[in-house]
Amino acid sequence: METSDYFKRALRDLRISVTDRCNFRCRYCMPEEIFGKDYPFLSRDSVLSVDETVRIARIFARLGVRKMRITGGEPILRKELPEIVAGIAEIEGVEDIALTTNGSLLAKQAAKLREAGLMRVAVSLDALDDDTFMKMNGGKANVRQVLEGIDAAAEAGLSVKVNMVVQKGVNEHALLPMVRYFREKGHILRMIEYMDVGNTNGWDWKHVISKKEMLERIGAEFPLESAAPNYTGEVASRYRFADGKGEIGIISSVSEAFCQTCTRGRLSADGMFYTCLFATKGHDLRTLLRSDASDDDIVRRIGSIWEGRHDRYSLEREEARGKTDGAKVEMSRIGG
Ligand SMILES: C[S@@+](CC[C@H](N)C(=O)[O-])C[C@H]1O[C@@H](n2cnc3c(N)ncnc32)[C@H](O)[C@@H]1O
Ligand code: SF4
Repeated sequence: METSDYFKRALRDLRISVTDRCNFRCRYCMPEEIFGKDYPFLSRDSVLSVDETVRIARIFARLGVRKMRITGGEPILRKELPEIVAGIAEIEGVEDIALTTNGSLLAKQAAKLREAGLMRVAVSLDALDDDTFMKMNGGKANVRQVLEGIDAAAEAGLSVKVNMVVQKGVNEHALLPMVRYFREKGHILRMIEYMDVGNTNGWDWKHVISKKEMLERIGAEFPLESAAPNYTGEVASRYRFADGKGEIGIISSVSEAFCQTCTRGRLSADGMFYTCLFATKGHDLRTLLRSDASDDDIVRRIGSIWEGRHDRYSLEREEARGKTDGAKVEMSRIGG
């Protein structure tokens, strides 16, 4: 069964957050002064259990979801992550299971996750020098830990991509060293424009390095050729190195919105369903899961939420800023 929204966009991908906690305090996502000791993280029983998570994933698969991405907070902090992956891997119709992680705990878990059925990882890393990286992650881990996680993932047979958020005046100097390093390693590096997600990172246009600017800087050292998307709705625009040695990607959700082809739904760890990364309001599926509603009832509920979806926040960013109806959901709640 397939479901489409108001703009005829199907529901194809689901990002499932399995925890709102994180061992990092990246300034652009969970700044320590806000997400410090007293921050009201979700209680244990408000987080979906393994069975509830797998059940809701199965229900989404019935609605046409083919790709599941597990995220957080930091998903590897969730002890039952291998069970969740294994449960999702058994669902009929799911063609792709990926994980987004900060990589700091990946070295020990990569083989186990691969065995459970994980196919791909996207590891976030913003610089190759400890000074910059630790400033950005709140001093919680060094570069070596993440590079070891990346190597372990590749050795375990996982396909690896690396995500880098590029911020003007913060880590722009790390752009070319990162491109050089991962080109040699043979992993695709994807640069993400710094986004106005959540309400706590003090985002401003002047902190953004646009896709255009990144391409100019990288292209000056490594001539690039634009490549066609692998599939409709791919978030990163692809560029091949003209010498044939691999490719990079750029995720330009600020300077060039890709709302038109957005087929992604997002589920927070406490079972709220969000139809946009920049949403102010989620739809409570946990209460339904914990009621006597049948799978068919929940399929109908999600179908009607998706059919009423009008979101295209990035396209409307300029008009929308300052005018959103309430606080946006935090990135650490829905995982990017
Ligand atoms: C919220 S994290 C969750 C998964 C995991 N903890 C990680 O860092 O990969 C998912 C992705 O969102 C990115 N992200 C967080 N805040 C961002 C922002 N303000 N702008 C752009 N990307 C952001 C992170 O760099 C990461 O690649
Ligand atoms: S970006 Fe990922 S690693 Fe960094 S604070 Fe947010 S959830 Fe944690």
